[in-house]
Amino acid sequence: MGIIRKPKLTEIVAMKKLLDEASDEGKVLSRRLAEMFENARDFHVYVDAQGVGGLTALHIDLIDLAEVRSLVVRKDLRGSGIGRQLVEAAMDEAMHLDIERVYAFTRIPQFFLRLGFTQVERSELPYKAFKDCLQCPLFPDCDETALIRDITPKPQIS
Ligand SMILES: CC(C)(COP(=O)(O)OP(=O)(O)OC[C@H]1O[C@@H](n2cnc3c(N)ncnc32)[C@H](O)[C@@H]1OP(=O)(O)O)[C@@H](O)C(=O)NCCC(=O)NCCS
Repeated sequence: MGIIRKPKLTEIVAMKKLLDEASDEGKVLSRRLAEMFENARDFHVYVDAQGVGGLTALHIDLIDLAEVRSLVVRKDLRGSGIGRQLVEAAMDEAMHLDIERVYAFTRIPQFFLRLGFTQVERSELPYKAFKDCLQCPLFPDCDETALIRDITPKPQIS
Protein backbone atom coordinates (compact mmCIF):
# COMPACT_ATOMS: atom_id res chain seq x y z
CA MET A 1 0.00 0.00 0.00
CA GLY A 2 1.46 3.33 -1.01
CA ILE A 3 0.64 7.02 -0.73
CA ILE A 4 -0.03 9.91 -3.08
CA ARG A 5 2.05 13.01 -2.37
CA LYS A 6 4.18 15.70 -3.99
CA PRO A 7 7.51 14.31 -5.26
CA LYS A 8 10.98 14.85 -3.90
CA LEU A 9 13.58 16.05 -6.41
CA THR A 10 15.46 12.79 -5.83
CA GLU A 11 12.46 10.96 -7.35
CA ILE A 12 12.42 12.84 -10.66
CA VAL A 13 14.74 10.37 -12.44
CA ALA A 14 12.48 7.44 -11.48
CA MET A 15 9.44 9.45 -12.59
CA LYS A 16 11.05 10.12 -15.97
CA LYS A 17 11.78 6.39 -16.35
CA LEU A 18 8.06 5.57 -15.88
CA LEU A 19 7.09 8.38 -18.25
CA ASP A 20 9.59 7.23 -20.87
CA GLU A 21 8.30 3.64 -20.78
CA ALA A 22 4.76 4.88 -21.47
CA SER A 23 6.07 7.33 -24.07
CA ASP A 24 7.86 4.50 -25.92
CA GLU A 25 4.45 2.81 -26.19
CA GLY A 26 2.98 6.03 -27.62
CA LYS A 27 0.75 6.61 -24.59
CA VAL A 28 2.12 9.94 -23.31
CA LEU A 29 4.41 12.70 -24.50
CA SER A 30 7.99 12.39 -23.31
CA ARG A 31 9.43 15.22 -21.19
CA ARG A 32 13.06 16.31 -20.96
CA LEU A 33 14.68 15.70 -17.59
CA ALA A 34 15.46 19.42 -17.23
CA GLU A 35 11.81 20.26 -17.95
CA MET A 36 10.70 17.80 -15.27
CA PHE A 37 12.98 19.40 -12.69
CA GLU A 38 11.79 22.90 -13.68
CA ASN A 39 8.17 21.77 -13.34
CA ALA A 40 8.73 19.50 -10.33
CA ARG A 41 6.01 21.31 -8.36
CA ASP A 42 3.44 20.36 -11.01
CA PHE A 43 3.60 16.69 -10.05
CA HIS A 44 2.00 14.25 -7.68
CA VAL A 45 3.42 10.77 -7.30
CA TYR A 46 2.22 7.45 -5.97
CA VAL A 47 4.99 5.93 -3.87
CA ASP A 48 5.17 2.47 -2.32
CA ALA A 49 7.92 0.26 -0.89
CA GLN A 50 9.31 -0.24 -4.40
CA GLY A 51 9.57 3.50 -5.07
CA VAL A 52 7.65 5.64 -7.54
CA GLY A 53 4.67 3.71 -8.91
CA GLY A 54 2.78 6.50 -10.64
CA LEU A 55 2.74 10.17 -11.49
CA THR A 56 0.74 12.96 -12.97
CA ALA A 57 1.16 16.70 -13.41
CA LEU A 58 -1.10 19.73 -13.20
CA HIS A 59 0.37 22.37 -15.49
CA ILE A 60 -1.02 25.91 -15.29
CA ASP A 61 -1.71 27.59 -18.63
CA LEU A 62 -3.84 30.63 -17.79
CA ILE A 63 -5.36 32.32 -14.73
CA ASP A 64 -8.36 29.99 -14.93
CA LEU A 65 -7.08 27.01 -16.88
CA ALA A 66 -4.66 24.11 -16.30
CA GLU A 67 -3.79 20.83 -17.99
CA VAL A 68 -3.58 17.43 -16.34
CA ARG A 69 -0.84 15.51 -18.14
CA SER A 70 2.00 12.99 -17.83
CA LEU A 71 -0.32 10.44 -16.19
CA VAL A 72 1.30 7.01 -15.80
CA VAL A 73 0.83 4.14 -13.37
CA ARG A 74 3.40 1.32 -13.16
CA LYS A 75 2.13 -1.70 -15.09
CA ASP A 76 1.86 -4.06 -12.12
CA LEU A 77 -0.22 -1.49 -10.19
CA ARG A 78 -2.79 -0.68 -12.85
CA GLY A 79 -6.47 -1.32 -12.26
CA SER A 80 -6.44 -0.63 -8.53
CA GLY A 81 -7.55 3.00 -8.49
CA ILE A 82 -4.17 4.73 -8.42
CA GLY A 83 -4.69 6.57 -11.73
CA ARG A 84 -7.98 7.93 -10.41
CA GLN A 85 -6.37 9.00 -7.09
CA LEU A 86 -3.55 10.77 -8.93
CA VAL A 87 -5.99 12.74 -11.09
CA GLU A 88 -8.10 13.59 -8.02
CA ALA A 89 -4.97 14.87 -6.24
CA ALA A 90 -4.33 17.15 -9.23
CA MET A 91 -7.99 18.29 -9.15
CA ASP A 92 -7.73 19.09 -5.42
CA GLU A 93 -4.64 21.15 -6.12
CA ALA A 94 -6.49 22.99 -8.91
CA MET A 95 -9.31 23.75 -6.48
CA HIS A 96 -6.90 25.18 -3.89
CA LEU A 97 -5.40 27.39 -6.61
CA ASP A 98 -8.87 28.63 -7.65
CA ILE A 99 -8.38 27.22 -11.15
CA GLU A 100 -11.78 27.02 -12.84
CA ARG A 101 -11.19 24.33 -15.46
CA VAL A 102 -8.76 21.48 -16.08
CA TYR A 103 -8.38 19.82 -19.47
CA ALA A 104 -6.63 16.72 -20.81
CA PHE A 105 -5.61 15.46 -24.24
CA THR A 106 -5.83 11.69 -24.39
CA ARG A 107 -6.25 8.52 -26.43
CA ILE A 108 -8.25 6.97 -23.58
CA PRO A 109 -11.20 9.35 -23.22
CA GLN A 110 -13.18 6.63 -21.38
CA PHE A 111 -10.80 6.92 -18.42
CA PHE A 112 -11.36 10.68 -18.11
CA LEU A 113 -15.11 10.41 -18.75
CA ARG A 114 -15.30 8.08 -15.72
CA LEU A 115 -13.60 10.81 -13.69
CA GLY A 116 -16.18 13.48 -14.52
CA PHE A 117 -14.51 15.06 -17.53
CA THR A 118 -16.60 16.04 -20.57
CA GLN A 119 -15.49 15.74 -24.16
CA VAL A 120 -15.04 19.08 -25.96
CA GLU A 121 -14.09 20.18 -29.45
CA ARG A 122 -10.37 20.95 -29.57
CA SER A 123 -11.26 24.35 -31.02
CA GLU A 124 -13.01 25.22 -27.74
CA LEU A 125 -9.65 25.28 -25.94
CA PRO A 126 -7.48 28.41 -26.04
CA TYR A 127 -4.30 28.63 -28.10
CA LYS A 128 -2.14 28.05 -25.00
CA ALA A 129 -3.49 24.51 -24.72
CA PHE A 130 -1.64 23.56 -27.92
CA LYS A 131 1.80 24.54 -26.58
CA ASP A 132 3.22 21.00 -26.87
CA CYS A 133 1.84 20.17 -30.30
CA LEU A 134 4.85 21.29 -32.33
CA GLN A 135 7.14 18.90 -30.44
CA CYS A 136 4.70 15.98 -30.74
CA PRO A 137 5.70 13.30 -33.28
CA LEU A 138 2.07 13.04 -34.40
CA PHE A 139 1.69 16.74 -35.30
CA PRO A 140 -0.39 17.73 -37.24
CA ASP A 141 -2.29 14.40 -37.44
CA CYS A 142 -3.36 14.33 -33.81
CA ASP A 143 -5.61 11.48 -32.73
CA GLU A 144 -6.14 12.66 -29.16
CA THR A 145 -9.46 13.63 -27.64
CA ALA A 146 -9.84 16.84 -25.63
CA LEU A 147 -11.77 16.65 -22.36
CA ILE A 148 -12.43 19.22 -19.68
CA ARG A 149 -13.64 19.23 -16.08
CA ASP A 150 -15.00 22.20 -14.17
CA ILE A 151 -13.52 22.59 -10.72
CA THR A 152 -16.22 23.22 -8.16
CA PRO A 153 -15.16 24.36 -4.70
CA LYS A 154 -16.05 21.94 -1.93
CA PRO A 155 -18.86 23.29 0.29
CA GLN A 156 -17.64 25.14 3.42
CA ILE A 157 -18.53 23.35 6.64
CA SER A 158 -19.19 25.80 9.47
C1 LIG B 1 -4.31 5.18 -17.81
C2 LIG B 1 -3.73 4.73 -16.50
C3 LIG B 1 -2.98 5.90 -15.84
C4 LIG B 1 -4.88 4.29 -15.57
O1 LIG B 1 -4.35 4.01 -14.29
P1 LIG B 1 -5.06 2.93 -13.36
O2 LIG B 1 -4.47 3.07 -12.00
O3 LIG B 1 -4.99 1.60 -14.00
O4 LIG B 1 -6.57 3.44 -13.38
P2 LIG B 1 -7.67 3.23 -12.25
O5 LIG B 1 -7.52 1.87 -11.66
O6 LIG B 1 -7.62 4.38 -11.29
O7 LIG B 1 -9.01 3.31 -13.08
C5 LIG B 1 -10.00 4.28 -12.85
C6 LIG B 1 -11.18 3.97 -13.78
O8 LIG B 1 -10.77 4.12 -15.14
C7 LIG B 1 -10.95 2.89 -15.85
N1 LIG B 1 -9.78 2.73 -16.73
C8 LIG B 1 -8.53 2.43 -16.38
N2 LIG B 1 -7.72 2.36 -17.45
C9 LIG B 1 -8.51 2.62 -18.51
C10 LIG B 1 -8.28 2.67 -19.90
N3 LIG B 1 -7.05 2.46 -20.43
N4 LIG B 1 -9.31 2.97 -20.72
C11 LIG B 1 -10.55 3.19 -20.21
N5 LIG B 1 -10.84 3.15 -18.89
C12 LIG B 1 -9.83 2.85 -18.05
C13 LIG B 1 -11.01 1.83 -14.79
O9 LIG B 1 -11.77 0.71 -15.21
C14 LIG B 1 -11.68 2.55 -13.64
O10 LIG B 1 -13.07 2.61 -13.83
P3 LIG B 1 -14.09 2.29 -12.62
O11 LIG B 1 -13.69 3.19 -11.48
O12 LIG B 1 -15.42 2.60 -13.19
O13 LIG B 1 -13.84 0.86 -12.29
C15 LIG B 1 -2.76 3.53 -16.67
O14 LIG B 1 -3.43 2.51 -17.36
C16 LIG B 1 -1.50 3.86 -17.45
O15 LIG B 1 -0.49 4.28 -16.86
N6 LIG B 1 -1.54 3.71 -18.80
C17 LIG B 1 -0.38 4.02 -19.63
C18 LIG B 1 -0.17 5.52 -19.77
C19 LIG B 1 -1.42 6.24 -20.26
O16 LIG B 1 -2.14 5.77 -21.14
N7 LIG B 1 -1.65 7.42 -19.66
C20 LIG B 1 -2.80 8.25 -19.97
C21 LIG B 1 -2.39 9.26 -20.95
S1 LIG B 1 -3.65 10.50 -21.16
